Amino acid sequence: MDGLDPFPDTAQVEDGGLTLAGLAASALADEFGTPLLVYCEQTIRAHAREYRTAAPDALVVYGTKAFPNTAIMRVLAEEGLGADVSTLGELRYAQEAGVPAERLVVHGNNKSDEELCAATDADAGYVVLDSVEELDRARVVGVRRMLARVTPGIEAETHQAIRTGHVGSKFGMSPEEALAIRDALEGIHVHVGSQLLSTAAACETVTWLNGFLAHSEWAPGVVDLGGGLGVPTEPGQAAPSIADFVSALVGGLDADASVILEPGRSLVAQAGVTLYRVGSVKRSGGRAWVAVDGGISDNPRPQLYGARYTALVANRAGDAPTGPYGVAGKHCESGDVLIDSVELADPRRGDILAVPATGAYTLAMGSNYNAVPRPAAVLVSDGNARLIRRRETVEDLLGLEA
Ligand code: LLP
Repeated sequence: MDGLDPFPDTAQVEDGGLTLAGLAASALADEFGTPLLVYCEQTIRAHAREYRTAAPDALVVYGTKAFPNTAIMRVLAEEGLGADVSTLGELRYAQEAGVPAERLVVHGNNKSDEELCAATDADAGYVVLDSVEELDRARVVGVRRMLARVTPGIEAETHQAIRTGHVGSKFGMSPEEALAIRDALEGIHVHVGSQLLSTAAACETVTWLNGFLAHSEWAPGVVDLGGGLGVPTEPGQAAPSIADFVSALVGGLDADASVILEPGRSLVAQAGVTLYRVGSVKRSGGRAWVAVDGGISDNPRPQLYGARYTALVANRAGDAPTGPYGVAGKHCESGDVLIDSVELADPRRGDILAVPATGAYTLAMGSNYNAVPRPAAVLVSDGNARLIRRRETVEDLLGLEA
């Protein structure tokens, strides 16, 4: 798919315009409004199948936090996946989507008693203890199958805000603490970070696990290896394939245990494209700016993690770029810049700007900054589009006022 990297599998340029699953991006924008998150069902299913093929015996659970959405979770459940949920809300989404109870893995570094009770009531497959303190509270409310999240002291190569397995992390317990309660446990959990663009941290994790389990003579029935596989968000950026990442994790494991994998981003990021409408184009101090009708409220990742995205003028996708532009959001601060610089084809007011690889941790982390209602999402497949999350309205926001 040269030139359309990193758009979804079904992206094409037809009659000069970007299409997704056979639908013109500009027509989707007209019908559903902008900003709009467009998810390609074929891409989601393909990625789910890649995980299932790479680890046929593993339980693969979707990291719901990447984008809690019942329609997408239903698609993933059809592909045999479960859900990793870390709050009462995410648990409700998984239940609403009909994810089978035995495929639910309940996380959280500060689970309330209410959340532990809900996990028991749901008969969730596993609850992952994040601290030793949690064990007694989990027992009291009848939690049966427990794993312990262990912090192995691994510094994954990624933005520091999404590194989780290092010494001093807010997540998990020490290996020694887990050993002390091992009789209460079905197994162990490790997750060292997110947006990993190499297999290095995965290899390091497995090597550490092998050593730790051998040294402590612990043979856990379950080993949950977390998620973490990164995705390219710009052309030319490289990431391991799902097959290579899974093989680095599962292939190297010595333990004879049931394996759980928890991918979030690598299932849905590339499937999602955000469509914005261009409002103004101007020059300021030698820079050219394109302002769109969203920004930090639908994608805070550039500000939080220095994430870099690319963009395409969707309604003239076949035209050659005419120069570099900064893509600015509509919010009231200078830092609301979605893309620092991207080559675009003479963008004009009214054009549709498509930003690919925005399916994970964007709308999921969206806000109502400046009292801006959050966007809608649609799922596209074989020439059909289905609304899977309606657009918020200002009335919705005013409805919260007391
Ligand atoms: N399992 C656990 C225990 C996790 O904490 C996470 C992500 C995952 C699985 C899924 O990881 P993934 O496959 O998506 O990398 N908001 C950040 C990412 C935060 C990740 C939180 N935990 C971002 O936008 O990059």
